[in-house]
Amino acid sequence: MPAICKDSDLQEGQSRGFELDGHSFFIVRQQGTLYAYRNHCPHLGVNLEWMPDQFLDSDGRLIQCAMHGALFLIESGYCVSGPCTGQSLTPLPCEVRDDDIWIEL
Ligand code: FES
Repeated sequence: MPAICKDSDLQEGQSRGFELDGHSFFIVRQQGTLYAYRNHCPHLGVNLEWMPDQFLDSDGRLIQCAMHGALFLIESGYCVSGPCTGQSLTPLPCEVRDDDIWIEL
């Protein structure tokens, strides 16, 4: 389980992407809770973001795939709209220890 960044680097409502040991994933903080998912859209298997570290829709309330606009709940990764409705992103275990965010790949 590697440490990927400082907890204080990720503010409320922000997302951030990482490439580590051949794994592509991202983290999001919503209402103080940290979530991590593989950066892999269940529709075509592509990366989700439209710009570096931009994984959320314009309201910052849902995760969005830039390719065809699928929308996913931040708290579960469940797709609520788009071509992969009913499928889910793959969650990754993560935790904060001291001021570091750790993730299990
Ligand atoms: S590849 Fe993500 S919605 Fe089509």
